[in-house]
Amino acid sequence: MKHRKITLSEQEIPEKWYNIIADMTNKPLPPLHPGTKEPIGPDALAPLFPMELIKQEVSGEKWIAIPDEVRNIYSIWRPTPLYRAYGLEKALDTPAKIYYKYEGVSPAGSHKPNTSVPQAYYNKQEGIKRITTETGAGQWGSALAFACNHFDIDCEVYMVKLSYNQKPYRKVMMNTWGAKVFPSPSDATEAGRKILAQDPDTTGSLGIAISEAVERAAMNEDTKYALGSVLNHVKLHQTVIGQEAVVQMEKAGDMPDIVIAPFGGGSNFAGLAFPFLRLNFDEGRNIRCIASEPTSCPKLTRGVFRYDFGDTVGMTPLLPMYTLGHNFVPAPIHAGGLRYHGAGVIVSQLLKDKLIEAVAHDNIEVFEAGVTFARTEGIIPAPEATHGIATAIAEAKKCKEEGVSRTILFNLCGHGNFDMKAYEDYFAGNIVRHDLTSEEIKASLAELETPEIE
Ligand SMILES: Cc1ncc(COP(=O)(O)O)c(C=O)c1O
Repeated sequence: MKHRKITLSEQEIPEKWYNIIADMTNKPLPPLHPGTKEPIGPDALAPLFPMELIKQEVSGEKWIAIPDEVRNIYSIWRPTPLYRAYGLEKALDTPAKIYYKYEGVSPAGSHKPNTSVPQAYYNKQEGIKRITTETGAGQWGSALAFACNHFDIDCEVYMVKLSYNQKPYRKVMMNTWGAKVFPSPSDATEAGRKILAQDPDTTGSLGIAISEAVERAAMNEDTKYALGSVLNHVKLHQTVIGQEAVVQMEKAGDMPDIVIAPFGGGSNFAGLAFPFLRLNFDEGRNIRCIASEPTSCPKLTRGVFRYDFGDTVGMTPLLPMYTLGHNFVPAPIHAGGLRYHGAGVIVSQLLKDKLIEAVAHDNIEVFEAGVTFARTEGIIPAPEATHGIATAIAEAKKCKEEGVSRTILFNLCGHGNFDMKAYEDYFAGNIVRHDLTSEEIKASLAELETPEIE
């Protein structure tokens, strides 16, 4: 029998998170106060996050211990399996070896509980009663609902209106774990009311939903805010994915030449890629790490490196990031988790320093890849995850053209079992390409007041 699935025991769940900042020659630039434009210290984040997460956000330590209670909850679904994609390889008739790490086995169906659990844990430790958040496709909202339920914390989710209508069962899933869900923009917040007054028919965006969730947390003493991506501590928590994958690849007697992951704010990419980048830093390896984004929200491939807000209304600190501008509202693609205008600070610096690469795929190409994957490997991928598959297929085809064998590993960061509307639209021919013009990007960036960073 072919050795298709490489598993680990519960004892092999990582004991530490890996903090890549310790290994970066060019450290990320500091966040700036939105008013004074001066670097902000950790205290400025205190209204939104518990102190332990703020310490992780600014930490320079290479390894940070994972609390036992968090590892204990991780053991519900971790270690996650790593598969050799024999079916896909055969269909592509490629000399490449393709592996994927499957994060869809978590209760919420994606990588997101890797960070929602520690975030809820640290909030609980500091006596917080309610956590607010935004969600795009509903993957992050459901992951946070699951974690808050475990720690008996109220959970309030602002869900991008487009996804709220496209994915009603994600909302029910959050309700099942006890969370309250609002379509965003909502009239429950000042930020939401402002946007609705300007554009009552808006489909919403992650940037808008963040403004709403941040406002709710900033105005209530017992409430904090949780972000499902972008920030350093979120990426840190996700490194359990790549640490497990390194051990699994060793068990398979292989090591990837290319590591690929879809890219929204950068957390699942960081989760898989950073532990492999560590091998580049520590052992002088040359593993290529590629982030895959949609052509309709191409901050890495067509954005600029510049200070920008993390949200639409401008309530967060200014962050040095690749961005399309905080007012950018992407086309209504089904990959809701990738409809975010900016990239996390660490991944932005790594891209600037050419330590990682980025590619973009259009809406049709990713569905073709997703269906090919479902038909050859069985698992139906989340629309976000199809972007990584499209890159893996493109790289495997290159191997065939060049007549070389390379080992490719990608992150199958979530299943698409709640995304049947997306697949229905694809089969009905209702998925269209969204060609974003340079003029549209220029117009969005023109609204930024900050200069490009050298
Ligand atoms: C299944 C899935 N994959 C990928 C992403 C992209 O986010 P990130 O880049 O933070 O991993 C999301 C975000 O919601 C998601 O739900």
